[in-house]
Amino acid sequence: MTAAGGKGLEGIVAANSGICWIDGDAGVLSYRGIDIHELAVNSTFEETTYLLWNGILPNELALREFQGRLALSRSLDQRIVDMLRTFPVTATPMEVLRTAVSALSFYDADEKDNSHDANVRKSYNITSQIAMIVAIYDRIRKGLEVVPPNRSISHAANFLWMLNGVMPSETAVKTMDMALVLHAEHELNASTFAARVIAATLSDVHSAITGAIGALKGPLHGGANEGVMRLLHTIDKAGADPVEYVKNMLAAKQKISGFGHRVYKTEDPRATHLRKMSEQLGKDANQSKWYDMSRAIELYINTDKKLNANVDFYSASTYATLGIDIDLYTPIFAISRISGWTAHVIEQLDDNRLIRPRANYIGPVYPSPYIPMEERG
Ligand SMILES: CC(C)(COP(=O)(O)OP(=O)(O)OC[C@H]1O[C@@H](n2cnc3c(N)ncnc32)[C@H](O)[C@@H]1OP(=O)(O)O)[C@@H](O)C(=O)NCCC(=O)NCCS
Repeated sequence: MTAAGGKGLEGIVAANSGICWIDGDAGVLSYRGIDIHELAVNSTFEETTYLLWNGILPNELALREFQGRLALSRSLDQRIVDMLRTFPVTATPMEVLRTAVSALSFYDADEKDNSHDANVRKSYNITSQIAMIVAIYDRIRKGLEVVPPNRSISHAANFLWMLNGVMPSETAVKTMDMALVLHAEHELNASTFAARVIAATLSDVHSAITGAIGALKGPLHGGANEGVMRLLHTIDKAGADPVEYVKNMLAAKQKISGFGHRVYKTEDPRATHLRKMSEQLGKDANQSKWYDMSRAIELYINTDKKLNANVDFYSASTYATLGIDIDLYTPIFAISRISGWTAHVIEQLDDNRLIRPRANYIGPVYPSPYIPMEERG
């Protein structure tokens, strides 16, 4: 065997897929061929999820049915809620989500059925349940009453309702919905690839999504949005100049969360919308501090280091202005990305082949002798 892939599988094409197309040089992202800029402005999370799962935009009736079915899936076995109450207060919402999604399979009648229809049924359930778990756990850890789901409002609105226990403003729902559309899908990113690898062993949807959540949690992936906000808080607390602060970090060879991307060599098209959202929300709330700091950092890193902001950079200040706790940022990424993960798992299992690459061996020469214990140094 010859041929070594780039380190980190850089530039390697690992699957055929009809879900997402990215042109990293031109900064193009599309779901099922439709440009993200169009979806960001015109679509909703429900419509985008339908598009990802079915390959086409729904007509009015199909969309209404889809919304209804997703809303009907807003139901969580009481034993899952009871389990959430048993977790230590030190458990982060992302760790809790990873564990709870794994446990969801115990109460899903389709757990072991890997047929297309069962996978779609499970996808509805998990999509609704992930948002519920994040909201419910946040209330449990704060000693607040669990808020029952509302099946007559949108997915984004229901998440905010269950999180805060008050009906969210139109602006908050619109912002959350657009954030969910922007984060929904991104080709073979680390968590989606992890989900496909797990699904391809003919394990099950819950296992694939549990693995994906574990991958998303990492600071080089979805965890970066929390890293951005922690950095902004640190700079603010120290009363430091944001540009000087990141200059020193870069001089110390530290990475700045929210910058750089494996695929995009230009601006991440999702960042364009999140920047606008962050700025507008800051203006509306008369609280532009986080946006202003972010923009100053971005201009410096962009000009001096030629690095662009990615999806995570402005989602941090956007969520902060909505009053959302920092450790919920990555779970919110999961609440959105579940639509892409499940689209890929369904696609993988519709035409499955085990994913099993090879390694470029760089270890001791073969054959190396087996040295008896008494002769080892
Ligand atoms: C996303 C990321 C993991 C891509 O990694 P990658 O494709 O393996 O690229 P590398 O980490 O090898 O980066 C290439 C170069 O850019 C630099 N670089 C990349 N991102 C950087 C960042 N956020 N801050 C500072 N330098 C960065 C690297 O240090 C490296 O420089 P070098 O060639 O002088 O060593 C990387 O950009 C990163 O760690 N970003 C911060 C975390 C983040 O925001 N993740 C969310 C991605 S959506």
